[in-house]
Amino acid sequence: MISKEAFELLDNQLPKGAFLTVKNNDEVNTMVIGWATVGKVWGKDVITVMVRYSRLTYDLIKNAEDFTVSVPALDTMKEEIAFMGTKSGRDFDKYKETNLHLKDSKKVSSPIIEEAKLHFECKIIYKQAMDPMGIVDKEGIEDRFYKGNNDYHVIFYANIEDCYEN
Ligand SMILES: Cc1cc2nc3c(=O)[nH]c(=O)nc-3n(C[C@H](O)[C@H](O)[C@H](O)COP(=O)(O)O)c2cc1C
Repeated sequence: MISKEAFELLDNQLPKGAFLTVKNNDEVNTMVIGWATVGKVWGKDVITVMVRYSRLTYDLIKNAEDFTVSVPALDTMKEEIAFMGTKSGRDFDKYKETNLHLKDSKKVSSPIIEEAKLHFECKIIYKQAMDPMGIVDKEGIEDRFYKGNNDYHVIFYANIEDCYEN
């Protein structure tokens, strides 16, 4: 499992934003995530991320083998997070605009964001589209996040192949 320090940084920084980077064939894209879980599933060290259908990232990750999560040092990289988390790779060269750099991963094909502090290299093992019928907390989940938009999340479960600090 990941170290206590790694978990603490992920947990504290996630609400402010971390970078999710996906490579599929020759195309790479990065967006910001605020939600993820880490734990044990199927006896493996697993991270889950949630990506809405509307994201360019979804178009890539739906057919990808892996992804990375790169976590900035706490409370840093605010401008880069704002850009990567509000603009789409469909409209901008997000790396040029933010001056963030991709760096080869050690174990997966999707690269990491070099400037971030902590990196997860993740191999996708299961994916599941949210079923609206399965939402029990209508007010807290359906009404708050999906009312009128039909833009549900797809949840990607991935084996944590590596987790390290730059
Ligand atoms: C702090 C923060 C957290 C976010 N978390 C998520 C998330 O967990 N899942 C998601 O689909 N979008 C999330 N977003 C929105 C995407 O990052 C945003 O729509 C992005 O522009 C998509 O880029 P893309 O079209 O290049 O994939 C978040 C944005 C911010 C600022």
